[in-house]
Amino acid sequence: MPSIAPASPCSSQRAKAFFKSQFQCSPRWVADAPGRINLMGEHIDYNDGFVMPAAMDRRLSIVAGPISSDEIILCTEQDKKVFRFRLNDPLLPRGDWTDYVVGVLAHWMELNASVCGLAISIASDIPLGAGLSSSAALEVATATLLEVAWEMRLHPRAKALACQAVENHYVGMPCGIMDQFAVTMAAKGHFLLLDCQTNTFEQIPVDSHFPSLLVINTNIRHALTEGCYAERRSQCESVLLVLGQTSWRSVSMTQLMDKSEELSDVQLRRGRHVISEIKRTRDAADCVRKGNMMELGKLLYASHQSLRYDYEVSCKEADWIVDRMGGLGEGGGVLGCRMTGAGFGGCVVCLVSPDAVSDIIRQLDSDYRKKFNLEADFFLTSPSEGCRAWIPS
Ligand code: GLA
Repeated sequence: MPSIAPASPCSSQRAKAFFKSQFQCSPRWVADAPGRINLMGEHIDYNDGFVMPAAMDRRLSIVAGPISSDEIILCTEQDKKVFRFRLNDPLLPRGDWTDYVVGVLAHWMELNASVCGLAISIASDIPLGAGLSSSAALEVATATLLEVAWEMRLHPRAKALACQAVENHYVGMPCGIMDQFAVTMAAKGHFLLLDCQTNTFEQIPVDSHFPSLLVINTNIRHALTEGCYAERRSQCESVLLVLGQTSWRSVSMTQLMDKSEELSDVQLRRGRHVISEIKRTRDAADCVRKGNMMELGKLLYASHQSLRYDYEVSCKEADWIVDRMGGLGEGGGVLGCRMTGAGFGGCVVCLVSPDAVSDIIRQLDSDYRKKFNLEADFFLTSPSEGCRAWIPS
């Protein structure tokens, strides 16, 4: 029986310890940012829809201290390599994870922050490439660090948008706003219902009867810059063109079906996902507000089927998990489940009764290994707070 990997509370302790071992002194500034799960509203942030993520209790921490040279010296506990960037040289993308940090540094330099050389160390408890927004956590944690280290603070909304701009234009991933927003604005004990047309949001509290949130990592890694994500985005834009609309928010299912002759089967299915997922997200928010967990669970399953067949961003491993969880059903303590994040691998999020967690894991774990010759990871999470910065004592 696998143990549920505990959420480590101490990525900041590890980042500090690694900093000391690399630079023989203590860091002056610490910042961190969480990963996120998305309960409902997948692939609709860039389609003007609603999304309802929450921050996880797994975080990425970044610590820094000033140095006298005009350099950034960057290292992570994970790969132990040291990267050096001269602040007076053009800070160009390299095509690896350092782009998320350096892109933010370059952006803050353009804002005329009080730039100084920095030694930086990073440690993270967020699985990489698992659809849990490790990239947004890295961008937002870096931005939050620079707010104190380079004394240039932004309004949280501006900070989230700046980090999205870095990901779009520096890293080259055409993501929407959900991840950077969630990681910046999330509040402990709440889901964040974000209107991606206006970037306004509502924090929806979760009461003590809310089921456990079990995250299952398929351990299939996705690479979003490889084109499938961008392809979905442009497919949705092409449907809007045919519909003669500028935003999905004003499109009904009837309007979509009225144009079915002019749309390909793929375009119709993409449109159907967007319209139905926007509605599901509003309905899901209502369920959380009213504590209607049975209905919420059904919406999760419906969302997964839409992502699987209409939007085609799931993978066979996630589908298998969702089918198995559905098979266990309410009697087995499972209220609902769906893939979370961009898809093409990554994680499934499940609403489960707290007392059924161990049994569920026992049943899924060995079958998954047998079926795919691969380990799945299981962990519980709960809605947590967004990014933070502090000066260590
Ligand atoms: C990734 C992107 C988000 C969002 C999700 C899918 O996480 O960064 O903007 O589009 O995929 O919902």
